[in-house]
Amino acid sequence: MKILVTGGAGFIGSAFVRLLIGETDWRVINLDKLTYAGNLENLAEIESSDRYCFVHGDICDAPLVNSLLAGERPDAIVHFAAESHVDRSILSPEPVIQTNLRGTFTLLEAGRVHQTPRFVHVSTDEVYGSLNAPLEATEDFPLNPSSPYSASKAGSDLLARSYFVTFKMPVAITRASNNYGPYQFPEKLIPLMIANALEGRNLPVYGDGQQIRDWLYVDDHCRAIRAVLEKGGEGEIYNIGGNRSLPNLDVVRKLLALAGKSENLIEYVKDRPGHDRRYALSSEKLMRETGWKPAMDFETGLSRTIEWYRRHASWVERVRSGEYRAYYEKNYANRA
Ligand code: NAD
Ligand code: TYD
Repeated sequence: MKILVTGGAGFIGSAFVRLLIGETDWRVINLDKLTYAGNLENLAEIESSDRYCFVHGDICDAPLVNSLLAGERPDAIVHFAAESHVDRSILSPEPVIQTNLRGTFTLLEAGRVHQTPRFVHVSTDEVYGSLNAPLEATEDFPLNPSSPYSASKAGSDLLARSYFVTFKMPVAITRASNNYGPYQFPEKLIPLMIANALEGRNLPVYGDGQQIRDWLYVDDHCRAIRAVLEKGGEGEIYNIGGNRSLPNLDVVRKLLALAGKSENLIEYVKDRPGHDRRYALSSEKLMRETGWKPAMDFETGLSRTIEWYRRHASWVERVRSGEYRAYYEKNYANRA
């Protein structure tokens, strides 16, 4: 097997590349633009493998994507590349439109022309929008996104599906819940709170902190995507959840306790506009059809993640460049 992974220098994509190089004899080509979120350090442990190759480029670059597919003829495309952060999409919506919509279109179109045998589109549970308890989205739920990020992911998800319906392109779509684990860029809830806690800085909880997310360990997500790649049906959609729903405040309190820090660090700040109150999904279909299930329990995964950030303070320091500091200032300065 030869797999073209897009966004393989990011958080989940790099975990997927490490998994494929470590656990299979497949070849992996990683196409990544190296935005602020892409980091080749995440791939240091596999970069010398002769089954791995990195291509620095933009998924919106149709000539590049076409020549890559024509030259390499991969057996599958697994498409992670995205602008992935809700808060950034609120501050500046243009990049999510460009990469998540135009970029996904460019890849689908090239995959259609070059008849790539398999295309896995990595989508998100955020496309379902906020659901009242006790509802859990199944794959046939309506899409009801709230932020520019989730709307762009809903658009790319529907576009991917349209390529199956219209052109019979062998597309499968995965919709995962919130991921956490090593190498996550410290703009998302868990790594941001861990990084701040370890430095004794305030932990900015939006609104009342009672928003609910379902937490999925990144390696469980990657194994689910591999299961869909190998066993998923054409044109099928698969939810992937961690089966661990928690209010944000509980997550923050747990991580403070595990890190040995005081709850006095919690700072309630102005809420995110359009903030979805609750995400919830059922992974019953994926479990039934492929035998996958999430293996990591949340407390173990969280303490491993804290330990990883503790041991990788220099990684955190490097990714929190001037760009990060400017973003942090813009997003948090007027929230207190
Ligand atoms: P990330 O922000 O950590 O990484 C994104 C990667 O894509 C980076 O390496 C970046 O350089 C690359 N990229 C961005 N724009 C590109 C472009 N135009 N061309 C080529 N490469 C580009 O994201 P992540 O958290 O690893 O998420 C990966 C995928 O999983 C995304 O599609 C996201 O929507 C989806 N997802 C994420 C979560 C989550 O909790 N993080 C949950 C469900 C689904
Ligand atoms: P996030 O990690 O941005 O993922 P998403 O919005 O895609 O679910 O945020 C997870 C939850 O944590 C969400 O309800 C917003 C909240 N949150 C905070 O309360 N404070 C923060 O500083 C961040 C980044 C998120």
